[in-house]
Amino acid sequence: MKPVRKAIFPVGGLGTRFLPATKALPKEMLPVVDKPLIEYAVEEARAAGIEEFIFVTGRGKTAIEDHFDNHYELEQTLRERGKRLELDQVNGAKLQPGQVAYIRQMEPLGLGHAVWCARNLINDEPFAVLLADDLIQSDKPTLLDMVEAYEEHGGNVVSLMEVPDRHTSRYGIVDPGLSNDRLVEIRGLVEKPDPADAPSNLAIVGRYILQPSVMDYLGSAESGAGNEIQLTDSMMKMVGEGPFNGLRLEGTRFDCGSKVGFLAAGVAYALARDDIGAELHAALSDILDN
Ligand code: G1P
Repeated sequence: MKPVRKAIFPVGGLGTRFLPATKALPKEMLPVVDKPLIEYAVEEARAAGIEEFIFVTGRGKTAIEDHFDNHYELEQTLRERGKRLELDQVNGAKLQPGQVAYIRQMEPLGLGHAVWCARNLINDEPFAVLLADDLIQSDKPTLLDMVEAYEEHGGNVVSLMEVPDRHTSRYGIVDPGLSNDRLVEIRGLVEKPDPADAPSNLAIVGRYILQPSVMDYLGSAESGAGNEIQLTDSMMKMVGEGPFNGLRLEGTRFDCGSKVGFLAAGVAYALARDDIGAELHAALSDILDN
């Protein structure tokens, strides 16, 4: 079984839900407390053993490239001022030469198309996909949990969570087979079904470990839900080819693609911090009391 060494980060989206903030700033650079969303996803991938980071970008996204690169003036200034903590944070975020690639999606044709754009860098290895919008606060990094399930069972692994029945049309939904503790066999997948047609209320969270054969299906895929090329539709074609499992996530998932989810994430992450948690708690109490 080949190890999972590569990860794709689709970051080409326009971020229209956060305009005007995202007019000149990639939505993936919006900070949760003091760290951009995309850095949380990269940290999670690193913790899961990922060695190659492939960003599928679009116009106006160069701030992401700059974020993971050297910044000589800033580093020099921090060094001169003795700001060691800040310097460590800036250095810790960097990706090393040869570890990172940026590919342009060029047309916003959907998540499936974004993943397919990275096909020549994936070749014949299994790979992870992380959607930075899905921020997961957990003790154990979700992708690491999934890599361990992959090492035990092979095939494809997606992250799952239960959603209210009325929300099935917001997610990829799976048709579950046998389950063993948190592991759920997947018999089918459908993108954004109406509640009446949904095979369950188990939704795919934006974490995937996929076999490279999905690229062949994506290459000939037609538009699906929302008139976009959907990753879920090509994953459906892989059911029966080999093991296909979902892993129920542990922890709390925030939908940072929505305003409320993004704000809730900021509050939750800040409350969990030793340096500002108590102060924020007091400030929130004041706001809520008034
Ligand atoms: C994407 C996927 C969907 C998945 C969701 C998780 O949808 O297409 O299957 O459930 O991410 O966040 P999007 O949120 O991009 O519409």
